[in-house]
Amino acid sequence: MTAGAQTAARVLRGRTVSFREDPRVAGTDRAVRGHDDGAVAVGAEGRILWHGAFADLPKAYAGAPCERYDGQVILPGFIDAHVHFPQHRMLAAPAHDLLEWLDRFAFPEEARYAAEDHAAAAAERFLDKLVSHGTTSALVFSSVHAQAADCLFRAARRRGLCLITGATMMDRNAPDAVTQEAEASAEASARLIASWHGIERLRYALTVRFAITSSEEQLRLAGALLADHPDCILHTHLSESAAEIEMVQRLFPWSRDYTDVYARFGLVGETSVFAHGIHLSERECQALHDAGSMVVHCPTSNAFLGSGLFDIEHVGATRRPVRVGISTDIGGGTSYSLLQTLAEAYKIARLKGCRFSAFDGFYLATLGNARGLGLDGEIGTLDAGRWADVVVLDPEATPVLAARQELSESLEDVLFSLMMLGDDRAVRAVYVKGEKVAGRDRAAAD
Ligand code: GUN
Ligand code: ZN
Repeated sequence: MTAGAQTAARVLRGRTVSFREDPRVAGTDRAVRGHDDGAVAVGAEGRILWHGAFADLPKAYAGAPCERYDGQVILPGFIDAHVHFPQHRMLAAPAHDLLEWLDRFAFPEEARYAAEDHAAAAAERFLDKLVSHGTTSALVFSSVHAQAADCLFRAARRRGLCLITGATMMDRNAPDAVTQEAEASAEASARLIASWHGIERLRYALTVRFAITSSEEQLRLAGALLADHPDCILHTHLSESAAEIEMVQRLFPWSRDYTDVYARFGLVGETSVFAHGIHLSERECQALHDAGSMVVHCPTSNAFLGSGLFDIEHVGATRRPVRVGISTDIGGGTSYSLLQTLAEAYKIARLKGCRFSAFDGFYLATLGNARGLGLDGEIGTLDAGRWADVVVLDPEATPVLAARQELSESLEDVLFSLMMLGDDRAVRAVYVKGEKVAGRDRAAAD
């Protein structure tokens, strides 16, 4: 790659790792693009100008200040493909299952987001948590209140973050404080799209909580909005718990299955993102594959709520692969860390007899999620032209990790140990649009 006319604001030097392809499909050699002594040149406007071996750094960038991360791993910033803003402080709320957890904890906590001052303060705390864990972009559930989504959009914009969110549409089977008439929810969504979708790095997600909390009229209105705004994301939950699936069958007796409910209202398409998908049938997987939708694996949440074990080889089967993403699903999930999330995904894969390598995991948390969200032209790799959203991980961040590295012989060993043993303590630095915004800053300037 040749250097353009722009000058670099800084160069990050360390062990770079980025992906070209899905390692499950293309194999590791073709999928991984990295350099043991690599460099990423960042332009003044926050985009990546160049990535390669430090020895090949173009002369045009050699004079820029160099932030050295010797022995550290430089990756594209993590992307969380499904996380709940109004649940940001209600982690570790124990319940018998999903539906009881929603009634006892999630709905009462989300009701508090009617108050704009509460939502505004929470938005800052929520975004602080994301970036301190190395997450630089996210697809986020907000509450039913339009003003809470406004607060989150405003806070993300001030920070220059890439964020997709929307007001949650719910009009039944939940307390009045977190429901809204179907027509009013559609009007609020349309107003929020006009205000925020495509503004800088923000995008809108039409957000249907799940089939249980929407009337057919609300699902119809959501489908009409999606048809009018086909570049918006459709964000919802699908096939998470046994009791949920039974209730969907009772509420929509005409449906073939859970996926069919969404499909009937035009909600299963290329920009649709479905959290969970633990109990999908072959027919549902085929429908999701045909539509090009993404199913997001939420491993810590699925284990915590006892929802079930996601089968990555069933959902992603090569004969009709459904796009798979990965997420924390805070607050059903128990960690903001995508490293901890990958560790749980690994354990669940093992329990299902599936393969799940470190490369598979880091691919999902970066380029995989970016592709599923239609953002791979903007984020998810260290390629020139992408936003310089970067996370730097310290493989020796804790005594346990440091001891483990004495046995590491390859990049895969280092990544695997970070994914199994790492958390926010391993986040050495986080850059958003090329500016350092978080992390244990021990970078030694050249
Ligand atoms: N299904 C509907 N709402 C929710 C939620 O808030 N969390 C999870 N994990 N599943 C859901
Ligand atoms: Zn969720």
